[in-house]
Amino acid sequence: MPVTSVGARSVDRERPRPVGTAVTGGGGRAFVLGATGYLGRQVVAVLQDEGFDVAALSRRPDSAAELAAMGVRPVAGSIDDLGPYEAELRSADAVVVVGRMPYEREEPLVADLERVLGVASGASPPTLLFTSGTGVLGVPAPEGQWDQRSFAEDDDFTPPPWLQLRVRTEHRVRRLADRGIRSMVIRPPLIWGLGGSLQVPAVFRSVRTTGHACYVGSGLAVYSNVHVVDLARLYGLALRRGSPGAVYHAVAGELDFRGIAEAVATVTGTTTRSLTADEASQVWGPAVARTGLSTNSRSRAVVSRAELGWAPVHLDLRADILTGSYRRAHAAGEL
Ligand SMILES: NC(=O)c1ccc[n+]([C@@H]2O[C@H](COP(=O)([O-])OP(=O)(O)OC[C@H]3O[C@@H](n4cnc5c(N)ncnc54)[C@H](OP(=O)(O)O)[C@@H]3O)[C@@H](O)[C@H]2O)c1
Repeated sequence: MPVTSVGARSVDRERPRPVGTAVTGGGGRAFVLGATGYLGRQVVAVLQDEGFDVAALSRRPDSAAELAAMGVRPVAGSIDDLGPYEAELRSADAVVVVGRMPYEREEPLVADLERVLGVASGASPPTLLFTSGTGVLGVPAPEGQWDQRSFAEDDDFTPPPWLQLRVRTEHRVRRLADRGIRSMVIRPPLIWGLGGSLQVPAVFRSVRTTGHACYVGSGLAVYSNVHVVDLARLYGLALRRGSPGAVYHAVAGELDFRGIAEAVATVTGTTTRSLTADEASQVWGPAVARTGLSTNSRSRAVVSRAELGWAPVHLDLRADILTGSYRRAHAAGEL
């Protein structure tokens, strides 16, 4: 059945925390799926700062060396069969899912984790942090038009049809809180910083492929945004004092897609260009064009700020493009 409207009411946020899940200190063992990714690397650094001994899934032969260089113990395997590393998962105090996997693989993975973590033998319940994205809050903008709707963590929303699957996974994760797993969902907006991520590099890529810094339609659609290091700190705070079943946002500001393209045009010495939805699909591929660059996805981190005391330090995406990490990455030929 399609999900049409979802929000906090589906999970009882008022119930008392299960015993053993009150504020926890740092330390213990963490197992990360997606440690080699853009966000995963920063999350690993935060976990290590918090005193966690970190192990991570190593899917590729060469990722074992990458992980070891990060001070992470690689564990060979895949998300398709947790069997070979079930014992690792069970012995972890925290399991953090932060990789970019196909949406249709996310819910089966959570079901498998439920089976494994549900029989964890530790003294306190295991924590599961699952990474979703505010694409689920998206309001399609095929002509690049702005939309006034903005969502806090527990607001109701209607997901775009292509992300209903991910919302179902979010629900499944949150419901694990009723099964003795301290589960939480982290829902990042557009992530930026360190010259990486998805949307900003995609606009740089459009300069290479079209000669212009591109945006869709009027370019007034907007994603809320956060710096990757600030976002990673939210994982640490959620581990320390997050509530079972909660969703957490992380937002530092907003910059519409025309504003991003104008900054990229300045850095690359070119001009901007508006694309139709069809042209955008050709330049970026249909999925990135639709979900990432012609959608409004405006969010507010109300619960993260109030409950976890999270606040961003890096506030200016435009400056990071014009004079910061993206200018440097472009100069180094990395974008
Ligand atoms: N970047 C953004 O702006 C943004 C915004 C909102 C939400 N998010 C969410 O944040 C998460 C991480 O995003 P990211 O930008 O850091 O992605 P990323 O850099 O592309 O992530 C790559 C990581 O995902 C792992 N991975 C890829 N395919 C996998 C699979 N089939 N099974 C298991 N692991 C797999 C990779 O492992 P290998 O090294 O083994 O390939 C690597 O560790 C995703 O859930 C994404 O939807 C990102």
